[in-house]
Amino acid sequence: MKEIVIRGGRPLSGEVRVQGAKNSVLPILAAVPLVDGVVTLTRCPRLRDVEMSICILRELGCSAAWDGDTLNIDTASFRGRPISETLMREMRSSVVFLGAILARCGRASCGMPGGCDLGARPIDLHLSGLRAMGADVQERGGVLCCDACRLRGGDIVLPVPSVGATENLMLAACGGGGVTVVRNAAREPEIVDLAGFLNACGGDVRGAGTDTVAVAGRPLLHGCTYPVMPDRIVAATYLCAAAAAGGEIFLRGAEARHLDAALSVLRESGCQATPDANGIRFRAASRLKAVEPIHTAPYPGFPTDAQALFMAALLRADGTTIFEENLFENRYRHVAELRRMGADIRVFGRVAVVNGVASLRGAAVECTDLRGGAALCVAALSADGETRVGNLRHIQRGYEDIARDLSALGGDVEPM
Ligand code: UD1
Repeated sequence: MKEIVIRGGRPLSGEVRVQGAKNSVLPILAAVPLVDGVVTLTRCPRLRDVEMSICILRELGCSAAWDGDTLNIDTASFRGRPISETLMREMRSSVVFLGAILARCGRASCGMPGGCDLGARPIDLHLSGLRAMGADVQERGGVLCCDACRLRGGDIVLPVPSVGATENLMLAACGGGGVTVVRNAAREPEIVDLAGFLNACGGDVRGAGTDTVAVAGRPLLHGCTYPVMPDRIVAATYLCAAAAAGGEIFLRGAEARHLDAALSVLRESGCQATPDANGIRFRAASRLKAVEPIHTAPYPGFPTDAQALFMAALLRADGTTIFEENLFENRYRHVAELRRMGADIRVFGRVAVVNGVASLRGAAVECTDLRGGAALCVAALSADGETRVGNLRHIQRGYEDIARDLSALGGDVEPM
């Protein structure tokens, strides 16, 4: 697929099943080196980053096979060895492999991480946490080398609740010795899912979902079967798509309790969202109202990953909406593309001011990053005429098949 062609103006209807969460399955795959046995992941999303993680696991000697959306991984032939730099560069989250491999093998090395270009994405908290657990971490010519004969427990206070650092330290602690406490830990649902997986494998992780996570080290974990949580940002994407295009949809499998901040903004804009045991039913307002300023914040605040999606949904709202991006410094790159479609957006540093316009027009646009790219599809559904969304590799990192899902919801969406 080279581009997606979207002809806007058609309200959405029908239902779609929400895929498993990318940001949950990636740390779960990074935990696999701690396991001796077979791991079976159900609702496993088929994404490029997941395939990359599988490549890393294969380099480490594991075997992996798909059966529909179930992924089976066998670690019987595990052998620790440095992850190749090409793989590391492909995917930022590969840095999360560091903690688990270090704990299992006593040493780990990897290239400096790649991923979405959202501005500086430091990993100092990952590294200082590993050091606090007894690891020797050196950077030599762009390669990170970590050594520790045996990681010991540590009491680590994160200055900011980093999702990746919390996950990395949980994994290192799980395979290390003693008890590790991570304070000011991230509280994202994906952290809870990772803890659920580790505990299902015989680990001892407590407090996930609060700001203090305690992990008791264990020798090798055993295999398990585990369902990956539904992707809350994919769910937010399709809610925003319906909010932008109008209509009524059902998101099967979506978890409303993970989406409180997003759903309250959608309700404020005039839409109706009704959770039930099987998902979320959603009805768009006939015209959205602008909402109170949206400030991105760590969970349970408004997710930075949903900022571009909500901006796209609110482009034609009645009134002005202000966004404040507080997590990443370079997360308005989609703005220039949205402007090509007639959006009225002004950016002042971390603040973006969106004045609702009466209509948007189709244009040729390019994805700048994963969620920014999905936001272009959301905007296109509510634009007059045809939008061609190019540079899809970003979107493919996080969506199994966004064109398939938006078509299933009745959008006029054609992959080319
Ligand atoms: C994860 C998500 C990403 C989401 C982000 C914030 C994955 C694979 N990615 O990214 O989709 O946008 O959480 O919800 O799960 N920081 C430091 N030093 C560090 C690490 C982070 O200063 O060592 C800062 C970052 O610059 C940022 C903030 O902490 O300002 C949060 O980043 P973090 O939670 O670590 O994001 P990621 O784990 O990279």
